[in-house]
Amino acid sequence: MPIACEERTMALRYDLPTASEITPETVYLERRRWMQGLAGLALAPLLPEATGATNPSALAARPGRFSTSETRNSLEQITGYNNYYEFGTDKDEPARNAHTLRPRPWAVIVEGECEAPRTYDIDTLLKLAPLEERVYRLRCVEGWSMVIPWVGFELGTLLRQVKPTSRAKYVAFTTLADPKQMPGLASGVLDWPYTEGLRIDEAMHPLTLLAVGLYGKALPNQNGAPIRLVVPWKYGFKSAKSIVRIRLTEQQPATAWNKAAPQEYGFYSNVNPEVDHPRWSQGSERRIGELLRRKTVLFNGYGEQVAGLYRGMDLRRFY
Ligand code: MTE
Repeated sequence: MPIACEERTMALRYDLPTASEITPETVYLERRRWMQGLAGLALAPLLPEATGATNPSALAARPGRFSTSETRNSLEQITGYNNYYEFGTDKDEPARNAHTLRPRPWAVIVEGECEAPRTYDIDTLLKLAPLEERVYRLRCVEGWSMVIPWVGFELGTLLRQVKPTSRAKYVAFTTLADPKQMPGLASGVLDWPYTEGLRIDEAMHPLTLLAVGLYGKALPNQNGAPIRLVVPWKYGFKSAKSIVRIRLTEQQPATAWNKAAPQEYGFYSNVNPEVDHPRWSQGSERRIGELLRRKTVLFNGYGEQVAGLYRGMDLRRFY
């Protein structure tokens, strides 16, 4: 990212509470933020006032695998400190600006090297598999981290449905780029649309999630509504928000950050304290809400699950 995270962190204008400090009073504030995050006329029929339901955007999710028991960041932290450059480059801009994103109607095209390409309506995707809650660490390349209770399903479940061919070696993700909804597109900070990619074995790994919610409710716009990728052992920028196209490819796809600064952001982008960003160390991180820095762990602590994917690879070269 153009600006080191610590500069951003120092610029935080308020002290974020830790999850344990949340009082019942904040429930109201959280709900209000949800309403802001989910704002948009398209969603109005789902809001409680319209349906009479007490919690209409709640997503039934069973506890899933791989969840960390570390303290979760609060909803306010997760929805108030974001990277979503389509809505501005300051951490508080996505929360302020993303109300213009319309997460319905929404389609996701799944195509390329597969036998059964298909365009999915988002509500069909929501029923593709039982939703799970996965509490994952997210480590941003800028040097901060959070613990986020996502709701979603494994990307592999979707990819298996379209039957990848033997030529499918990679998966490319394209996200929405609509200047009418996204004021940040007017800036040339990235080559829009935001694109990302994974190797097929990374994409099929059971840790890799398509998230449709967090804290038990539909994703707020600023977190990538209505559907985003979550790849917890990689830096946060791999986790593309508001996905509209998933393409199986034979060649390694171009990715937005690699195109913008190839020396700084590689294709793999695995969390690795041994490989510094050219402009700052990756040896430690600040968990949002904490004062003292923590040591960053290889693969963001998911090495037991994913180290095998990279056996024999020089992780300095394939950064
Ligand atoms: N996806 C899109 N479309 N645009 C972005 O700017 N930022 C990335 C990633 N996905 C980004 C994106 C970065 S840098 C990070 S750290 C994570 O989203 C942040 O996710 P969060 O705001 O939900 O914590």
